[in-house]
Amino acid sequence: MEKIISSPRGTSDILPEEVLGWQFVEKAARRQFLYYGYREIRTPLFEETELFARSVGQTSDIVQKQMLNLAAQGAGSDADDMKNSLLSLRPEGTASIVRSYIQNNLDKKERLSKWFYIGPMFRGERPQKGRLRQFHQIGVEAIGPDSGSPYLDAEVIGLSVCILRESGVDDFNLKLNTLGTLEDKENFSKYLRSVLSSRLDALCPDCRNRYERNVFRVLDCKNKSCKEVVKDLQLDYSYLSETSRNYYESVKAALDSLGIVYQEDPRLVRGLDYYTHTVFELSCSRLGSQDALGAGGRYNHLVKELGGPDVGAIGFALGMERMLLAKAEDATLKSSPVQVYVVALDEKFFPRAFQLLQFLRKKEISADINFSSSGLKSQMRQANKSGAGFVAMIGEEEFIQGKVTLKNMADGSQEQILLDEAEKIIKIVKEPESPRAREFEKL
Ligand code: HAM
Repeated sequence: MEKIISSPRGTSDILPEEVLGWQFVEKAARRQFLYYGYREIRTPLFEETELFARSVGQTSDIVQKQMLNLAAQGAGSDADDMKNSLLSLRPEGTASIVRSYIQNNLDKKERLSKWFYIGPMFRGERPQKGRLRQFHQIGVEAIGPDSGSPYLDAEVIGLSVCILRESGVDDFNLKLNTLGTLEDKENFSKYLRSVLSSRLDALCPDCRNRYERNVFRVLDCKNKSCKEVVKDLQLDYSYLSETSRNYYESVKAALDSLGIVYQEDPRLVRGLDYYTHTVFELSCSRLGSQDALGAGGRYNHLVKELGGPDVGAIGFALGMERMLLAKAEDATLKSSPVQVYVVALDEKFFPRAFQLLQFLRKKEISADINFSSSGLKSQMRQANKSGAGFVAMIGEEEFIQGKVTLKNMADGSQEQILLDEAEKIIKIVKEPESPRAREFEKL
């Protein structure tokens, strides 16, 4: 027996019966992007590894343990030049967006670039429910000289909340914190080191390492004894400068004015290095250990650190797999969008049925047919399974009289229509009162 090849661990197929749910979420997000004035950007799925090391951070888990690198193989192949560069699949979107912003001189073209992206990201993590090696994000980045307003922070956070709600995810919490400027962050890390120095023994080996290299990481370690230590820490905002404190107060006031509910969490630091000032996380406790639906924050120095102009930025990314896990089931999205199922009661009627099928599709009616010749019963079963609102049947009598019988599957009523007047079918199927037509409109 031949070996069956499965998809690589940590990846999954999105089967047609699931795709409607994905499209629903995407469509909800795209609608909000239009209202909020964010435009789509598409960047490559792989980049120079150095881009991620310099943005996400050398000491981050992503760069340390999770990068999926590309290997160029085969002497004399067209990809020979790749041997001299280290390339990785993108673990997130922000670094690529900033790279593109710089490369395309966007600061000279507009004061504020408001961009969004939807697509796959790749991290070599240990897979579990809600944690994959290929997963999908809906993300937003607002970058430019005019990005320094606390109202923009509120807009971006508000947009993330709005996309979750419009996608059917209602049950989530928003956590908020500020890290302040680079200087404030430095003060915060000094403070953390000083309070943790007497508890080093209680930290896991990873965190003892992190204590030296990036002490913030200790705050979101999942290890039980580290969590205990972190729980006892007295954290206030004493490390913040007055300007940073005022900025944070303005962000909170703007969120309050939008009626957005949040919990302040001084322990929220995020696992990526580039953040300054506002950071936030959206979580859903029902999801278990992988409960983060999305997260984001400001990164006022990243553009400059990657060789670009000195402009600020803020953004977020939502994990689509987790959004779908947290979303209430919507039964109508499970059904296929067939409006009319065409049935030929004998092979000799098939050419006419096939013509009718094409006619319906040209008129923007979704229609399908059974390609194997089978009896009425089995074809009606198929029609039922397809969820079609109507069945258009051609049997002996219809064939001779140049007609079709149109059956309404909701109430069982049927009428004969001359094929010369097939436009009538369109009118009936598109009738706005038909529940099927309404459902179709949703897609
Ligand atoms: P992140 O927190 O690394 O941030 O990821 C954002 C979201 O992506 C997570 O909250 C989660 O829902 C989802 N996610 C991350 N890793 C996985 C995984 N292995 N499997 C399934 N879902 C996952 C970022 O990526 C930043 N770029 C966000 C950002 C944009 N900050 C500023 N702009």
